[in-house]
Amino acid sequence: MALCIMYGGDFVHREDFPMLSQDIVYFDNGATTLKPYSVVDSLTKYYTEHTSNIHRGDYDASVVTNRLYDDTREVVKKFIHCKDSREVIFTSGTTMSINMVVFGYMRNHLHSGDEVLLTKAEHASNILPWLRLQEEIGIVIKYVDLDDNYELTVERLRSYITSNTKVISIAHITNVIGDVRDIDLIGEICRQKNILFCVDGAQSVPHVPVDFQKSNIDFLSFSGHKMLGPTGVGVLVGKYELLEEMEPLCYGGGMNQSFDASFSYELKRVPFKFEAGTPPIAEVIGLRQAILYLMDIGMENIRVHEIKLKKYLVSKLEKIPNIIMYNKSSDSGILAFNIVGVAPQETSMYLNHHHIYVRAGNHCAKMLKDEIQVNHTVRVSMYLYNTEEDVDHLVYALEKSEDVFRRVLS
Ligand code: ALA
Repeated sequence: MALCIMYGGDFVHREDFPMLSQDIVYFDNGATTLKPYSVVDSLTKYYTEHTSNIHRGDYDASVVTNRLYDDTREVVKKFIHCKDSREVIFTSGTTMSINMVVFGYMRNHLHSGDEVLLTKAEHASNILPWLRLQEEIGIVIKYVDLDDNYELTVERLRSYITSNTKVISIAHITNVIGDVRDIDLIGEICRQKNILFCVDGAQSVPHVPVDFQKSNIDFLSFSGHKMLGPTGVGVLVGKYELLEEMEPLCYGGGMNQSFDASFSYELKRVPFKFEAGTPPIAEVIGLRQAILYLMDIGMENIRVHEIKLKKYLVSKLEKIPNIIMYNKSSDSGILAFNIVGVAPQETSMYLNHHHIYVRAGNHCAKMLKDEIQVNHTVRVSMYLYNTEEDVDHLVYALEKSEDVFRRVLS
């Protein structure tokens, strides 16, 4: 039986993942992850056994659906250690979560001249909403310089803070360099200086333990599909008192208490005022199953496993001439590299011939090129079901690539 041995004596059963029955090496986990049967089964069950809307029906199927949907908030609370399950809002994904924060909260609380600190390694969804707000109300965006390894150091970040700094909005783990930001320390600085701390957890919540309260996070965003869950569902966790002051971006059924012909209306309380219309019910239920799966394995085990695999990969690639690695030292399962003289897209198509799936391009972090001086890279992003054998396949293909590309390029 194919087992992926984990630290601490736990195991991931590769058989849990139907896609792995194909002859593939899946290294595109930063983009999206494979789904275990338990997640797929929970969706099938919803669609075949208890299809119903939530919070509207008085019949048996609806009771089952309500219970699973509502329990997902409790499961998320336990998973990321927020104070209250009412702080958990279901969204369509990280992008929507960040947009809700920027346009539902920041737009009403920031003023012209207020400074927001970002980095050039951020993904588009943690830059574009802020750029739009800059146009609208004149906030000042500052990009904190990265160090020689393209990582954000707390010292650098601290040097950018002024009395006008109102927000720090950063990825916990970036999606190309994969550096792990010290969110405990940054959160503490934010507490001392009264700065709002927004964390893009898209690449961290699926891979490492995250403690919302310990890191003093004000708003945390993440996506279900990057953590074994379905597409179309994500989460925004916010401190309750901030969410009470946040405006919904979407109005409709399920989020209002009342409305009448005299033009008056009353909204429901947090979190329901942010979940207008029929939410992604099946997806929320699938997300619950995904989190239960991850909790069963243990996030610390996953973190250690990925770092070990990355180190193994780096040690092998160091021996292959013509491979440039951009982030050998970052502490996650992400490696960005290029083959000298070969376009990243060519490399990824070549690897596809070996049934190895990676991503090539700018990875939606379009400003990172200013730091790493290259537009595009090939990205390997690992997860709990990857093995040393997967790495060996990749290394073998890259070793062979020299001959192939020499022929193609000559
Ligand atoms: N943010 C996703 C990635 O890094 C889409 O691939």
